[in-house]
Amino acid sequence: MTIPLLNRTAETDAPVLDVLADRWSPRAYASDDAIDESQLASALEAARWAPSANNIQPWRFIVAHRGTEAHDRVHEALLGFNKVWAGDAAVLIVAVAETADAEGKPLPFAAYDLGQSVAHLSVQAHHDGLHVHQMGGFDRDGVRAAFGLDDRFEPLTVIALGPIGDPSALPEALQEREAAPRVRRPLADSLIAV
Ligand SMILES: Cc1cc2nc3c(=O)[nH]c(=O)nc-3n(C[C@H](O)[C@H](O)[C@H](O)COP(=O)(O)O)c2cc1C
Repeated sequence: MTIPLLNRTAETDAPVLDVLADRWSPRAYASDDAIDESQLASALEAARWAPSANNIQPWRFIVAHRGTEAHDRVHEALLGFNKVWAGDAAVLIVAVAETADAEGKPLPFAAYDLGQSVAHLSVQAHHDGLHVHQMGGFDRDGVRAAFGLDDRFEPLTVIALGPIGDPSALPEALQEREAAPRVRRPLADSLIAV
Protein backbone atom coordinates (compact mmCIF):
# COMPACT_ATOMS: atom_id res chain seq x y z
CA MET A 1 0.00 0.00 0.00
CA THR A 2 1.30 3.45 -0.86
CA ILE A 3 0.51 6.15 1.68
CA PRO A 4 -0.18 9.54 0.05
CA LEU A 5 2.02 12.43 1.11
CA LEU A 6 0.12 15.33 2.67
CA ASN A 7 1.13 18.86 1.89
CA ARG A 8 4.54 19.32 3.52
CA THR A 9 4.39 23.13 3.70
CA ALA A 10 4.10 24.45 7.26
CA GLU A 11 0.86 26.19 8.14
CA THR A 12 2.40 29.19 9.83
CA ASP A 13 0.53 31.69 12.05
CA ALA A 14 2.58 34.55 10.66
CA PRO A 15 4.18 34.90 7.24
CA VAL A 16 7.66 33.43 6.87
CA LEU A 17 9.98 33.02 3.90
CA ASP A 18 8.68 30.36 1.51
CA VAL A 19 11.89 28.37 1.87
CA LEU A 20 11.41 28.15 5.65
CA ALA A 21 7.79 27.02 5.37
CA ASP A 22 8.59 24.52 2.63
CA ARG A 23 11.71 22.97 4.17
CA TRP A 24 11.09 19.57 5.65
CA SER A 25 13.05 16.45 6.46
CA PRO A 26 12.21 13.54 4.16
CA ARG A 27 13.49 9.99 4.51
CA ALA A 28 13.09 9.03 0.86
CA TYR A 29 16.15 9.96 -1.17
CA ALA A 30 16.81 9.24 -4.83
CA SER A 31 19.32 6.40 -4.76
CA ASP A 32 20.27 6.81 -8.44
CA ASP A 33 20.69 10.58 -8.59
CA ALA A 34 24.09 12.13 -7.91
CA ILE A 35 24.29 15.50 -6.24
CA ASP A 36 24.82 18.60 -8.30
CA GLU A 37 28.29 19.63 -7.11
CA SER A 38 27.58 23.34 -7.51
CA GLN A 39 24.52 22.97 -5.26
CA LEU A 40 26.60 21.07 -2.71
CA ALA A 41 29.19 23.85 -2.85
CA SER A 42 26.45 26.43 -2.25
CA ALA A 43 25.08 24.51 0.74
CA LEU A 44 28.53 24.30 2.31
CA GLU A 45 29.19 27.95 1.48
CA ALA A 46 25.99 28.91 3.30
CA ALA A 47 27.24 26.98 6.32
CA ARG A 48 30.58 28.74 6.06
CA TRP A 49 28.96 32.18 6.22
CA ALA A 50 26.87 31.51 9.32
CA PRO A 51 27.54 33.75 12.31
CA SER A 52 29.46 32.33 15.26
CA ALA A 53 30.68 33.51 18.64
CA ASN A 54 33.82 35.62 18.10
CA ASN A 55 33.71 34.40 14.49
CA ILE A 56 35.56 31.26 15.62
CA GLN A 57 33.56 29.07 13.21
CA PRO A 58 33.83 25.97 15.40
CA TRP A 59 32.42 23.63 12.79
CA ARG A 60 33.90 20.93 10.61
CA PHE A 61 32.14 18.78 8.01
CA ILE A 62 32.98 15.31 6.75
CA VAL A 63 31.38 15.21 3.30
CA ALA A 64 30.87 11.67 2.00
CA HIS A 65 29.44 10.95 -1.46
CA ARG A 66 27.36 7.81 -2.06
CA GLY A 67 29.48 5.11 -3.65
CA THR A 68 32.58 6.01 -1.67
CA GLU A 69 34.14 4.21 1.26
CA ALA A 70 33.60 7.31 3.42
CA HIS A 71 29.84 7.18 2.74
CA ASP A 72 29.86 3.49 3.70
CA ARG A 73 31.67 4.33 6.95
CA VAL A 74 29.16 7.04 7.89
CA HIS A 75 26.24 4.81 6.90
CA GLU A 76 27.64 1.99 9.01
CA ALA A 77 27.61 4.26 12.09
CA LEU A 78 23.90 5.13 11.76
CA LEU A 79 21.62 3.62 14.37
CA GLY A 80 18.22 1.95 14.17
CA PHE A 81 15.89 2.98 11.39
CA ASN A 82 18.26 5.71 10.22
CA LYS A 83 20.35 2.94 8.68
CA VAL A 84 17.34 1.75 6.69
CA TRP A 85 16.69 4.95 4.78
CA ALA A 86 19.69 7.29 4.92
CA GLY A 87 22.05 5.19 2.80
CA ASP A 88 20.19 6.32 -0.32
CA ALA A 89 21.17 9.96 0.23
CA ALA A 90 23.60 11.25 -2.39
CA VAL A 91 25.72 12.74 0.36
CA LEU A 92 26.09 12.03 4.07
CA ILE A 93 27.71 14.84 6.02
CA VAL A 94 29.00 14.48 9.56
CA ALA A 95 28.57 17.79 11.37
CA VAL A 96 31.40 18.11 13.87
CA ALA A 97 31.73 20.68 16.66
CA GLU A 98 35.17 21.96 17.64
CA THR A 99 34.54 21.93 21.38
CA ALA A 100 38.03 23.15 22.37
CA ASP A 101 40.70 25.06 20.50
CA ALA A 102 44.14 23.68 19.66
CA GLU A 103 45.43 24.82 23.10
CA GLY A 104 42.61 22.98 24.85
CA LYS A 105 40.58 26.08 25.75
CA PRO A 106 36.86 25.18 25.73
CA LEU A 107 34.69 26.75 23.04
CA PRO A 108 31.36 26.96 24.88
CA PHE A 109 29.28 28.00 21.88
CA ALA A 110 30.54 25.24 19.60
CA ALA A 111 27.28 23.25 19.49
CA TYR A 112 25.20 26.43 19.11
CA ASP A 113 27.38 27.69 16.27
CA LEU A 114 27.49 24.32 14.50
CA GLY A 115 23.70 24.08 14.65
CA GLN A 116 23.36 27.52 13.19
CA SER A 117 25.72 26.72 10.33
CA VAL A 118 23.72 23.56 9.57
CA ALA A 119 20.52 25.61 9.61
CA HIS A 120 22.04 27.86 6.96
CA LEU A 121 23.12 24.81 4.96
CA SER A 122 19.65 23.29 5.12
CA VAL A 123 17.90 26.48 4.00
CA GLN A 124 20.30 27.00 1.09
CA ALA A 125 19.97 23.34 0.05
CA HIS A 126 16.18 23.50 0.14
CA HIS A 127 16.19 26.74 -1.82
CA ASP A 128 18.25 24.93 -4.49
CA GLY A 129 15.84 21.99 -4.69
CA LEU A 130 17.76 19.56 -2.50
CA HIS A 131 16.54 18.09 0.78
CA VAL A 132 18.24 17.70 4.14
CA HIS A 133 17.54 15.39 7.04
CA GLN A 134 19.61 15.75 10.20
CA MET A 135 20.16 12.75 12.45
CA GLY A 136 21.31 12.45 16.03
CA GLY A 137 20.89 8.68 15.92
CA PHE A 138 24.37 7.47 15.15
CA ASP A 139 27.34 5.99 16.96
CA ARG A 140 29.52 8.98 17.82
CA ASP A 141 32.46 6.87 18.96
CA GLY A 142 32.16 4.81 15.78
CA VAL A 143 32.39 7.95 13.64
CA ARG A 144 35.20 9.30 15.78
CA ALA A 145 37.17 6.08 15.27
CA ALA A 146 36.28 5.72 11.59
CA PHE A 147 37.65 9.18 10.78
CA GLY A 148 40.35 9.47 13.43
CA LEU A 149 38.80 12.51 15.11
CA ASP A 150 40.73 14.17 17.89
CA ASP A 151 39.02 14.38 21.32
CA ARG A 152 38.35 18.07 20.92
CA PHE A 153 36.12 17.39 17.92
CA GLU A 154 32.63 16.11 18.68
CA PRO A 155 30.46 14.67 15.89
CA LEU A 156 26.94 15.89 16.72
CA THR A 157 24.80 14.98 13.75
CA VAL A 158 24.84 13.17 10.44
CA ILE A 159 23.08 15.03 7.65
CA ALA A 160 21.45 13.25 4.72
CA LEU A 161 21.58 15.61 1.74
CA GLY A 162 20.50 15.11 -1.83
CA PRO A 163 17.66 14.92 -4.32
CA ILE A 164 14.42 13.66 -2.77
CA GLY A 165 13.21 10.18 -3.75
CA ASP A 166 9.98 8.23 -4.12
CA PRO A 167 8.37 7.69 -0.69
CA SER A 168 6.60 4.55 -1.90
CA ALA A 169 10.02 2.88 -2.04
CA LEU A 170 10.29 3.15 1.77
CA PRO A 171 9.14 0.42 4.17
CA GLU A 172 5.50 1.02 5.17
CA ALA A 173 6.30 2.21 8.71
CA LEU A 174 8.59 4.86 7.30
CA GLN A 175 6.02 5.85 4.69
CA GLU A 176 3.63 6.57 7.56
CA ARG A 177 6.19 8.83 9.22
CA GLU A 178 6.88 10.48 5.89
CA ALA A 179 3.20 11.28 5.43
CA ALA A 180 2.44 12.35 9.02
CA PRO A 181 1.25 15.95 9.38
CA ARG A 182 4.01 18.45 10.15
CA VAL A 183 3.24 19.98 13.52
CA ARG A 184 4.71 22.44 16.02
CA ARG A 185 3.54 23.45 19.48
CA PRO A 186 1.98 26.95 19.68
CA LEU A 187 4.48 29.80 19.68
CA ALA A 188 3.17 30.92 23.08
CA ASP A 189 4.53 27.71 24.60
CA SER A 190 8.01 28.72 23.48
CA LEU A 191 7.82 32.20 24.99
CA ILE A 192 8.77 32.96 28.57
CA ALA A 193 6.28 35.42 29.97
CA VAL A 194 7.74 38.72 31.15
C1 LIG B 1 19.63 17.43 16.10
C2 LIG B 1 18.61 16.64 15.33
C3 LIG B 1 18.59 15.25 15.45
C4 LIG B 1 17.67 14.49 14.71
N1 LIG B 1 17.75 13.12 14.75
C5 LIG B 1 16.98 12.39 13.90
C6 LIG B 1 17.20 11.00 13.76
O1 LIG B 1 18.11 10.40 14.36
N2 LIG B 1 16.40 10.32 12.90
C7 LIG B 1 15.41 10.95 12.17
O2 LIG B 1 14.73 10.27 11.39
N3 LIG B 1 15.20 12.27 12.28
C8 LIG B 1 15.96 13.02 13.11
N4 LIG B 1 15.82 14.38 13.17
C9 LIG B 1 14.78 15.06 12.35
C10 LIG B 1 13.64 15.60 13.21
O3 LIG B 1 12.88 14.54 13.72
C11 LIG B 1 12.80 16.57 12.37
O4 LIG B 1 13.57 17.68 11.99
C12 LIG B 1 11.57 17.06 13.13
O5 LIG B 1 10.68 15.99 13.35
C13 LIG B 1 10.83 18.17 12.40
O6 LIG B 1 10.48 17.73 11.10
P1 LIG B 1 10.79 18.66 9.83
O7 LIG B 1 12.30 18.84 9.79
O8 LIG B 1 10.28 17.88 8.66
O9 LIG B 1 10.11 19.95 10.03
C14 LIG B 1 16.70 15.15 13.90
C15 LIG B 1 16.72 16.55 13.80
C16 LIG B 1 17.67 17.29 14.49
C17 LIG B 1 17.69 18.80 14.31
